Amino acid sequence: MNSLINYRCEGPLALIGLASAPVNALGQALREQLLEACERAAADASVKAIILHGEGSVFSAGADISEFGSPASFAKPDLPSLLTRLTELDKPLIAAIGGLALGGGLELAMACGYRVAEAGARMGLPEIKLGLLPGAGGTQRLPRLIGAAAALKYISSGEPIGTHRAQVLGLLDWVAPTADSLLETAKALALALIHRQAPGRPCRPCRPNWPHPTPGTALLPGYFADYRAANQSRWKGQSAPQRVVAAIEAACNLPLAEGLAREGELFKEAEASTESEALRHVFFAEREVGKLPGLDTGTSIRPVNRVAVIGAGTMGGGIAMNFANAGMAVTLLELRADALERGLALIRKNYETSVERGKLTSEQMEQRLALIHGTLDYANIADADLVIEAVFEELAIKQQVFRTLDEECKVGAILASNTSTLDVDAIAAVTRRPQDVVGLHFFSPANVMRLLEVVRGAATAADVLATTLKVAKRIGKIPVVSGVCFGFIGNRMLEPYSREAHRLLLEGATPAQVDNVLTSLGMAMGVFAMHDLAGIDVSFLVRESRREVLAHDPGYCKLADALYALGRFGQKTNRGYYLYEGRERKDDPEVVALAEKIAGELGIQRRVISDQEIHDRCVLMLVNEGIQLLDEGICQRSSDIDLVWINGYGFPVWRGGPMHYAEGLGLEHLLERIGHYREVLGGYGAMWFQPAHLLERLVASGKTGVERL
Ligand code: CAA
Repeated sequence: MNSLINYRCEGPLALIGLASAPVNALGQALREQLLEACERAAADASVKAIILHGEGSVFSAGADISEFGSPASFAKPDLPSLLTRLTELDKPLIAAIGGLALGGGLELAMACGYRVAEAGARMGLPEIKLGLLPGAGGTQRLPRLIGAAAALKYISSGEPIGTHRAQVLGLLDWVAPTADSLLETAKALALALIHRQAPGRPCRPCRPNWPHPTPGTALLPGYFADYRAANQSRWKGQSAPQRVVAAIEAACNLPLAEGLAREGELFKEAEASTESEALRHVFFAEREVGKLPGLDTGTSIRPVNRVAVIGAGTMGGGIAMNFANAGMAVTLLELRADALERGLALIRKNYETSVERGKLTSEQMEQRLALIHGTLDYANIADADLVIEAVFEELAIKQQVFRTLDEECKVGAILASNTSTLDVDAIAAVTRRPQDVVGLHFFSPANVMRLLEVVRGAATAADVLATTLKVAKRIGKIPVVSGVCFGFIGNRMLEPYSREAHRLLLEGATPAQVDNVLTSLGMAMGVFAMHDLAGIDVSFLVRESRREVLAHDPGYCKLADALYALGRFGQKTNRGYYLYEGRERKDDPEVVALAEKIAGELGIQRRVISDQEIHDRCVLMLVNEGIQLLDEGICQRSSDIDLVWINGYGFPVWRGGPMHYAEGLGLEHLLERIGHYREVLGGYGAMWFQPAHLLERLVASGKTGVERL
């Protein structure tokens, strides 16, 4: 077996180094070797104290997430028993935390009697982000160390605890100033402990009932009930936060051994939940997303130090902010001085709002603003390494900009178009360097939304793609690569989802009924509320650009066209699918009357529509399109689609994205339901309810997951 542990002795100290790259995930093999090493040190009379540390830059990122849901997760020694055993050793055990200690990694550190961390180390219990709770004693030991209220705060948010705070709270005994001094600090602490014959575990006051680390303040009665009541609506549909509260409540009410047993039960329930399965799927999807055939560590990367953005509108400004936020200088180009001034003023206003909300200091704002330079002259962007065009969404206008960029920009510059639907190949074709052209679909607000669709044109060079993906990560985005097609991944799937929702209005549903079904599924927003927010005029223009493709369906989004004709553009005009009074949204009988009128003209029989039918028709068409995209090779893998819809369209992350959700419903069921609606919806069904060929092939071959065949 490969050695995952380095064991060495220095005088009276045993140093046990975790050496399971890249992050010392505590899988079965590492657990086994760690236990062996600790027993060896315990049995060696010459060893008086033990130091646990990470051999690389990381202490441990916790349990091995890939083991969850499989027998390996609880294969002996399981993590909870291993950690309980460590707490029983009668020699001082010191955790030397370098880099990070997350989840089971921090639980491992908490099972040690003493903890030292390098300044700036990241510690936390992020299990909730995986639909779990700390399952190796974290929910019992953290409240005992730092108090129940502080533990609840960190475990229920999953947010990291900085070293300074951790020391104040009592989680750390010592902070080493640098990574280099960590082991020396741990050794000095160990020798001091030996010198004063300190016990294996220090006698610390137990703090489970302290809301704050102030001795003597008891938790108010009803604390947990109040906490639950205050957070219920935020937890909608999710059970992990409830389990976290139950476990910490147990820490307050039960002796340690019973509390640990209760935590174990809750953890098992969480591990088996579809919510955790979905969130684990998303964790690995995020790590897979940048991996593309043909791109590897050998692919060269072009240096990107100077960035330029063309167009200082809302989108261009938001894009520029991304780079400034990441500490990169960016030049913003406009054609007219007044437009440039407006754009720069908007950027300042956005930053000021962040300062008002306490998300940024004034100093940080000024630093970021100083990185954004406006210009009216293409000559000032001639030496940019990356240029992102963010002008009006019209092919001819974008092509004109690219002709200019081709003339003005240096050889080797990456030329990117921020487009949501246009043909990147047609844009690249007007330049003499199509290999340097790539699409970048930022989502609005561009400085906030994490999703970035990276559109690979037919000619886009591998190093351009690799560089773009790297830059995207540098500015904190989740880059998902798409091939060229109308709407790329996200908007192409939005089209049939939205089409079905519109059709349901003609058949008898109301906007509120459709939206309620979708928000009950967990969508951040219903489809009609979303169109009202994005602008009914915007989607109208998209339809206008492709009327010929839609002409065969006379009812296609007819209600949306009618609202557009009435000047009801959504929130911006206070009227769209709903009425708006300030922030309040109200149903509008006029919209229902309009739907009835259009249905009458088209000969559509109105009826009572069930919530199940709304769910099925919207979700089926969404997922079917995703499968089709995979079959066409527009996207690499089904989990990329999940990331697009979670991060760009508000699909609930705890359902794992639309494709993961569909797999849960069952591919055979999907195919059967598509067939069902094709039958019952007559001519309309025959027109749109065509299963993707890949779905048929997957079902025929007995597959349960969506993958290329
Ligand atoms: N288990 C298994 N694999 C893990 C892992 C874990 N806990 N943490 C990271 N990895 C893997 C990643 O999948 C990735 O693998 P590939 O290179 O094959 O894609 C590799 O380690 C590097 O990870 P990242 O690409 O994410 O690297 P990063 O430097 O950007 O981030 C990190 C590192 C901050 C540790 C991040 O990976 C992370 O947040 N990991 C998860 C931490 C976590 O949630 N821990 C709790 C686990 S649950 C638990 O511990 C339950 C319990 O109570 C017992």
